[in-house]
Amino acid sequence: MRLSDNGQKVFEARYAQKNENGEIIETFEQAVFRLSRTAASVEDEENKVWEEKFSSVIGDLLFIPSTPIWANIGKPDRPWQPGACFVLAVEDSLDSMYQTLKETAAVFKSGGGVGYNFSTIRPKGALVQSTKGKASGVVELIKLYDASSNMVMQGGVRRGASMGILNVDHPEIIDFIKAKMDGSLTNFNISVGITDAFMEALENGEEWPLVFNGDTYESVSAIELWQLISNAAHACGDPGIIFIDRLQQYNPVPGNPLDCTNPCGEQPLSPGESCLLGSINLAKMINPDGQANFDLLASTVGTAIRFLDNLIDAAQYPLPLIEESTKATRKVGLGLTGLHDALIMAGLAYDSAEGREFAGQLTQYIQQQAHETSRELAKEKGCFPAWEESIFYPDDTRRNAACITIAPTGSVTAMAGCEGYGMEPIFAVAYTKNTNVAGDFEVFSPLFLDECKKHGVTEEVLAEVARQGTCQNVSGIPEDVARIFKGAQDIDNTDHILMQAEVQKYVENAVSKTINLPSTATPEVIEECYLMAYRLGLKGITVFRDGCKKGTVTVGKDKK
Ligand code: CDP
Repeated sequence: MRLSDNGQKVFEARYAQKNENGEIIETFEQAVFRLSRTAASVEDEENKVWEEKFSSVIGDLLFIPSTPIWANIGKPDRPWQPGACFVLAVEDSLDSMYQTLKETAAVFKSGGGVGYNFSTIRPKGALVQSTKGKASGVVELIKLYDASSNMVMQGGVRRGASMGILNVDHPEIIDFIKAKMDGSLTNFNISVGITDAFMEALENGEEWPLVFNGDTYESVSAIELWQLISNAAHACGDPGIIFIDRLQQYNPVPGNPLDCTNPCGEQPLSPGESCLLGSINLAKMINPDGQANFDLLASTVGTAIRFLDNLIDAAQYPLPLIEESTKATRKVGLGLTGLHDALIMAGLAYDSAEGREFAGQLTQYIQQQAHETSRELAKEKGCFPAWEESIFYPDDTRRNAACITIAPTGSVTAMAGCEGYGMEPIFAVAYTKNTNVAGDFEVFSPLFLDECKKHGVTEEVLAEVARQGTCQNVSGIPEDVARIFKGAQDIDNTDHILMQAEVQKYVENAVSKTINLPSTATPEVIEECYLMAYRLGLKGITVFRDGCKKGTVTVGKDKK
């Protein structure tokens, strides 16, 4: 059980138990046992062997639980709250708005992020009966929630992240779309909830009514609204879009409304539900001959699902409503990280049909094994309580209403030392890092460096790669190396989307994925991406044009 130097830094900064003076008093190995012991504590006596199995897959970094699990579970001074993802309801009353804000603070304190669908809130300027005044509207409410996020450090370590969704027919949609263009609302991701009816209006070039409570406020051109979304995303990366009807279409418990996701969009949840996440490390699932180790994958998935399911019972919840809703459906979000590492090890390009096929095979296998485990757990421990209202009733007994989610894995991948985060391609094979302290230095992808060494690539060529931030079209880089080592910006947007579509096929929740675009991409390119996403059956899409937001990491020194 060992972490790399960088991994150890992440562990110490975020997850290790500290004493009252803030000094670290826990090793990685001790933390692995802390998690495993707590997860096994809900097992019957004869099943305590699971503690060992949990610690073996986590200690070897085959399975990596997400941040709140490491930061909270089994610690004497923290709530045992394992969930990263929450969705809360906000109703159209001042009471509810502030009640939800208070609930949000409780969730942030426990280390989770929150999503809201604000479509129930009356638009700005609408009449408030009790005061005969005018309503402040959705964007003002988001500003209030955003400001409050600065007050409560999430789990004491990071600022609370939120997702705000507004459906495309809400009368305040235009202001909402533009809400982040001035650089504000930094704690919020925002997404427009796109309906199938809107996509039809768009296709037919129709007017689109903006409606609240049955009253049509105005009609706008569907095409112009669509362009407004892509223009805003072009300028600042927000809003994303979520195909809201698809969430409901795949809702495992159709009676519970499903029109919202967690902050990064990968986990659709009904109001009050929470979900805990964990990732299979695919970089550890490839044999030296480049073939996938399906036996190891199967046993790891089985252990991981049991671990996550156990924590639903070992957990301490921030609110009774959340406990009740979460335990009713017992959703878990097992996903993957290091997909690109695995592709590289298998000698496959991220942007190739073979690469997509391999990614699909791995994800499908994870899903099959997860569902199989959930069925076995149902036999052993019972189905999730809302099972009789679910799409699985009566033939398919399961312990969990949903099992698979592909998260961004921002912190845990850094700890595990994979190069590709979640299902994303590696950021860049090399870049020049500018620091105040150490000056400029070159950072290389270790996998890339290894491959270059095998091919005898010279130091000069490597320096040129770092200068350009890419190995594409650099003379001295063998074609076979260039084909496999493409960073996020080297991959065409259509190939990003095709990979997302392939993986999404085997994910009943959703996937976190960014479609990278060069700085020169036009808003029309973004519209094409959106249409492609809709046609390929994605649940949502987020595009990111290089340089569109301040603080973007620059690829290549020359491209500053
Ligand atoms: O790697 P880690 O487990 O820290 O998390 P992630 O996979 O990057 O993010 C998973 C989910 O955690 C996000 O979609 C959010 O729901 C939540 N999160 C958050 O609330 N605040 C953050 N600053 C980061 C993540």
